[in-house]
Amino acid sequence: MSQSNETIGIIGAGWVGLVTAACFAELGHRVIVLDVVPERIEQLKAGNVPIYEPGLTELLERNKERMSYTLEIKDVTDEADFYFICVGTPPTYSGDADLSAVWAVIDSLPPLERRAVVVMKSTVPAGTGEKVRAALQARGLDHLGYASNPEFLAEGRAIEDFVHPDRIVVGSFEPSDSERVGALYAGIDAPIVYCDVASAEMIKLASNAFLATRISFINEIANVCELTGADVEQVAKGMGLDRRVGPHFLHAGIGYGGSCFPKDVTALKQLAGNSGYHFQLLSSVIEVNELQKRRVIGKLEKHLGSLAGKTVAILGLTFKPDTNDMREAASIVLGSRLLAEGAEVRAWDPLAGRDSYLRGANICDSVLDAVTGADAAIIVTEWKELRELASEQVRGAMRHPLIIDGRNLLDPDQVRAAGFAYDCIGRPGHCNHTPGKATSSEPPAE
Ligand code: UDX
Ligand code: UDX
Repeated sequence: MSQSNETIGIIGAGWVGLVTAACFAELGHRVIVLDVVPERIEQLKAGNVPIYEPGLTELLERNKERMSYTLEIKDVTDEADFYFICVGTPPTYSGDADLSAVWAVIDSLPPLERRAVVVMKSTVPAGTGEKVRAALQARGLDHLGYASNPEFLAEGRAIEDFVHPDRIVVGSFEPSDSERVGALYAGIDAPIVYCDVASAEMIKLASNAFLATRISFINEIANVCELTGADVEQVAKGMGLDRRVGPHFLHAGIGYGGSCFPKDVTALKQLAGNSGYHFQLLSSVIEVNELQKRRVIGKLEKHLGSLAGKTVAILGLTFKPDTNDMREAASIVLGSRLLAEGAEVRAWDPLAGRDSYLRGANICDSVLDAVTGADAAIIVTEWKELRELASEQVRGAMRHPLIIDGRNLLDPDQVRAAGFAYDCIGRPGHCNHTPGKATSSEPPAE
């Protein structure tokens, strides 16, 4: 990677902030990381990384000569030419994005001469940049530049996504600010979309909302497949070969979660509503997703009848594999429903913290422990450790060998041959009710 030596301030040492900081340092820049939480800065100074992201600890270690950590905004504004805002923008109860942390950063900027650029990396509603510019003017800081530079990092592969992005988006009021921000990515081979600030903000929200729409669409197709005998995996394959459709994000399951899709879809719908437009499509995307998390209950009742007194193993708690993040994970809704139905819930996850799951659920140290005595096991997160779930040992430990595959992770024929009853998402031809019995699509033996 080519060396360029700008000094960059990263404000907010969370998941996005730390990945961005480490990757910019890897590109050769000097990076100053600021956070308001003293323990977090102490940890980072001691070389301990407070978040889980594959490869991040190594990248921060490799570039530590070019990095420093601080609680003082002045340490950033005295030296850096770019102030990347990477603070949390969680949803408020109304679904609007909570920008209080963003404003706290803007208000914390000291009077300064340097013509630095404030760069928004956090996801914010379209129109926020305009308001930030007005706030800077009101504070006599209108000599500062402003740019919107949204991130498109997915958890579990964030460094790969930063280094090999599909595109880099930079929106600004002054073209020279866009060029300065774009130049920071020298060494990364990707198209840079230069545009106005509001469009850059909207590209981020619209991109996440569209990916979530694809997921809700394929989940609804899966639900229709269950009623018509089609196989959603075949359908997604056939659809995805159309280059206008493409194969990505057409994997049916039990709904999307995470720190981004749910909040960004809601924030965009709210933004539209606040602007006088009812975004019907997104209302449906959200509703379909919430229903999809609950459909598994219906499948369980089909196999087990009333769930009261039954034991159900939830396998996978995080919103997706390769992360310890449970924000908006389907496992939370599903677990709550099961407990409400009077079932006993046993849960397993290789990374999610013990204390981060539902009260009333038993967190188990192993898959085998979780399925012991269970009437059903549900694959909620497609962890690779679950690929071999349909084993003799697991069948022997379960009270009723039933697997509900919420991510279509397993090979139905292999599961059936191993003597399990099997159900999944949108593949009715591969489901069977009685352990080891032929699938329902096969005519009953004479
Ligand atoms: C954030 C945004 O929430 C999301 O909208 C955007 O898409 C990506 O960046 P994330 O990095 O996951 O997501 O947030 P989080 O892990 O909560 O980190 C935010 C950090 O900012 C925390 O370490 C917090 O202590 C810090 N922070 C918060 C500040 O440094 N200053 C503040 O005023 C508030
Ligand atoms: C997402 C975007 O991918 C990323 O570009 C953006 O910056 C932040 O939000 P992330 O939330 O880490 O990243 O997860 P992602 O891999 O996109 O998955 C989101 C959710 O959708 C997960 O719950 C996943 O299980 C689900 N999903 C994804 C499906 O159900 N089907 C699919 O085909 C793809």
